[in-house]
Amino acid sequence: MSDQQNNRTELLRQIRDEVWNFKESPLYLERMRNRAYPVIGEGSHHAKVMFIGEAPGRTEAATGRPFAGAAGKLLDELLASAGISRPDVYITNVVKDRPPMNRDPLPEEIALYAPFLDRQIEIIQPKIIVLLGRHSMVAILEKFGLDAMIGPMSRLHGIILNAETSYGDITILPMYHPAAALYNPELKYELLKDFQSLKRLLE
Ligand code: URA
Repeated sequence: MSDQQNNRTELLRQIRDEVWNFKESPLYLERMRNRAYPVIGEGSHHAKVMFIGEAPGRTEAATGRPFAGAAGKLLDELLASAGISRPDVYITNVVKDRPPMNRDPLPEEIALYAPFLDRQIEIIQPKIIVLLGRHSMVAILEKFGLDAMIGPMSRLHGIILNAETSYGDITILPMYHPAAALYNPELKYELLKDFQSLKRLLE
């Protein structure tokens, strides 16, 4: 393994350890109460594409793996439709612990976990960031100073945005959250189309 690869792995391990001991978060108590796991992220530490979801659900908190439940199955299908292998990308969430009863993460929870996501982006340095769902879209567009772009997902999904990072220009691609498409064939169709856009970006 190269030094650079070791370094990335080491830096990501530090994040894992910090999240594991993140007692400042009210969701940490909830995690302890449920004997659940935090979900840090998974995939290639040199991924060209990073997917950012919302927060772990029940299956994710029970396994410690992102998108391990029903929405994850659909994500796998979408990746396959674009010829993308899951281990080649990096998948994480805005919030690393499961909110109780799968409620939406609160703005203060998103803010509390944001530094971990910022560091994951700086370490992995993806060229393309796919935003899955509204919470991820709002958090990341705000982070990159693209607040003026924020609008309904029906207008923003599939639109290619550009952002400047410390390591160069990147592409941001908002999409519907796969969970929203589980029982909605129209949204699934839109996701399939947006994954074709992602495929073209990678060509
Ligand atoms: N939904 C998310 O946003 N993230 C997961 O990891 C699973 C479901």
